Amino acid sequence: MNDGTSDRDAVSMMAQRTDASPGAAPVGSVSLDPSAILDQWAIGTSGGAYMAGLEGRPVIERTEGSYLYDTQGNAYLDFGSGQMGGALGHNHPSIVASIRKSAERAIHSSNTFLNVDRLHLHEKLGKLLTPPLQKSLFLVTGSDSVEASVDLARKATGGTEVLSFHTGLHGSTSFVTRSLSFAWERKRHALNAPSIAPILAPHCYRCPVKQTFPACDYLCLQVSLELADAHFQAKPAAIVTEPIMSAGGVIEPPPGYMQRLREAADARGMLLVNDEAQTGLGKTGKMWGHQHSGVVPDVMAVSKHFGGGVPISAVCATAAAADTAVENGYFATRSHATDPLLCAAGSASLDIIVNEDIPAKAAVIEDHIKRHFTLLAKDCELIGDIRGRGVLLGIELVEERERKTPANTAAQHVLDYCQRAGLILQLRGTQGDRNVLRLVPPMTTSVADVDKALNILSEAILSAR
Ligand SMILES: Cc1ncc(COP(=O)(O)O)c(C=O)c1O
Repeated sequence: MNDGTSDRDAVSMMAQRTDASPGAAPVGSVSLDPSAILDQWAIGTSGGAYMAGLEGRPVIERTEGSYLYDTQGNAYLDFGSGQMGGALGHNHPSIVASIRKSAERAIHSSNTFLNVDRLHLHEKLGKLLTPPLQKSLFLVTGSDSVEASVDLARKATGGTEVLSFHTGLHGSTSFVTRSLSFAWERKRHALNAPSIAPILAPHCYRCPVKQTFPACDYLCLQVSLELADAHFQAKPAAIVTEPIMSAGGVIEPPPGYMQRLREAADARGMLLVNDEAQTGLGKTGKMWGHQHSGVVPDVMAVSKHFGGGVPISAVCATAAAADTAVENGYFATRSHATDPLLCAAGSASLDIIVNEDIPAKAAVIEDHIKRHFTLLAKDCELIGDIRGRGVLLGIELVEERERKTPANTAAQHVLDYCQRAGLILQLRGTQGDRNVLRLVPPMTTSVADVDKALNILSEAILSAR
């Protein structure tokens, strides 16, 4: 795919190339039969879950930059950045060097001791935070960091009730974060945590209260707060948000919304918690997603490509919130939370973001992709909306623009076509729909590779009409 063929040649070559039925696949000298291994040895996934249907997908053997390579020798442009952990490019040389160095010096260390890499990371991250955010602690996954952020807010305020958007997603591995996640079916979870309620997401393309911005005067928020106030059984603690709701279909609140949310939180003694798993560290064209609204949260959770593919997450907070929470008994940790290997990778990822001006790269990619789709949309009724920022972009497909009927079948066609042609992406949407093409290319993707992906996408979309 990198052999200088024209984009169109490459697209048709790739479209013919593979049906991606893994079967028994050679991996070096090893032979793998994915279906047999999954049947006998793996805990399955329920049908319809977004991680279901694995048997039909390529088996990844190697990753590099913006590419994945499967066991059949096929290359794929990865416009999902893995599960967003690869947004700095897979196997970035600085991350690889950092891992090598840690492997020779110190991989694991007790979280009851300080270590050199942990200290460096606190300082480096602290200097990149938007004041008054200042202090941090480290965990392993995104879910960890959101759960610990909520706990911090509860200990800092003395409250318990928490609100989050009805199209938000904040984690899956734990009691609290899956309960905060309304973007997927909650009935999949046996039990949800108490003191958590949804507020309507400000989704202007599909307004939940059928209004038009700005004439609406944020009616969705007003209604939500009236309901929340009636529902609270205890002192409220926090409102948890994403600057752009990724899993819900790449939804950004309209101008002024976050200011109104901040006022609502302040009026109730609640802290504003931003989950910046998907919007932080350059992804939206700025270092932090909240810089677009200018509303700085009291607490911020950071994960995904923090660590450049190695799992590390952080809870960041103002000194005031952090210190009060600690006085009230707050702590959060995991056995591997402060491992030198993870902290060194975290530091390396921050160096890459600063030294390579990663936010600017994300902004260039955004501009390029949006221009392409704006042009394509002129002749293609299927493209209902183009939104998002940086390398967190959503293309919403609709059967016809007036009614905005979600084009789920067409979106699935696009996904399948792209995979066959060598481009990986994911589908997202609101409340069960999967009609938003979510594009998350690594921020280090070259313009030539972005163009290659856009050609495949155009062919896929035009063939879905
Ligand atoms: C916004 C957001 N927060 C939290 C999480 C959970 O992160 P993890 O899967 O690392 O626990 C996700 C996962 O996709 C996410 O998108």
